Amino acid sequence: MFIDAHCHITGDEFDEKGGVAGVLERAKAHGVQKIVCSGFDLASSIRAKELAETYAEVYFCAGFHPSELNKCQEGDLDKIKSLCQHKKCVAVGEIGLDYHFDDNPKDEVQRMLFVQQLIIADELGLPVVIHSRDSAQETLLLLQRNKDLLKKGGLMHCYSYSPEMADEFLKLGLHFSFGGPATFKNAKKVWESVQRIPTHRLLSETDCPYLTPAPFRGEFPNEPKNVKYVVERLAELKGLSVQELAKQIEKNAKELFFKIEN
Ligand code: NI
Repeated sequence: MFIDAHCHITGDEFDEKGGVAGVLERAKAHGVQKIVCSGFDLASSIRAKELAETYAEVYFCAGFHPSELNKCQEGDLDKIKSLCQHKKCVAVGEIGLDYHFDDNPKDEVQRMLFVQQLIIADELGLPVVIHSRDSAQETLLLLQRNKDLLKKGGLMHCYSYSPEMADEFLKLGLHFSFGGPATFKNAKKVWESVQRIPTHRLLSETDCPYLTPAPFRGEFPNEPKNVKYVVERLAELKGLSVQELAKQIEKNAKELFFKIEN
């Protein structure tokens, strides 16, 4: 009944916990039906594709995360594009802007590769999964200027900006997903955004292995089974039952990520 719309299970964090098979078994036991494993560079995108080919419940995204762009070599975006044509690749992602750390790739490089990956999504008729950190205005402006490339929509993953900014992203037709931070104490801005965003534009995620939700905050690694705690908190904020919200999230996820099958 639950969907983890954005997670990373391609790393070695789970090796001592039964590997990916263990992760997926625990997820299933906690009612998680579908998992979208996101690439963040070429190697993780290829690994995500392999997992999707191995496990029925796993879908994937392929793309270069803004913080990983220094690894992007000539020809890599063509390889990302061909991964995106896979029948289980639901979106180009995660892509975007990240101005958090001083040593992140240069602003111009981030913008250029973000747009290039938006173009890939448009050419293939796919949605995008957007990572945006400490760059709310810049992300909004870039997306407004490139609105034509967003015909199939997109997901603002782990949304952490204000409800007022959410209004602007909503006008672009985007969806929003929330993870562990929505369950944290003192996350007032995130709660207000959840309340502001229409239920039909909401998705749930873990972004594991990071951002473990309460009541297990601080534990590492986080995993898809914990998406349940996120949905419980979102349902509370929306004044809905967990079941009602889970059902709506499933519908939203299947509309946005239209390659997901029953
Ligand atoms: Ni992520």
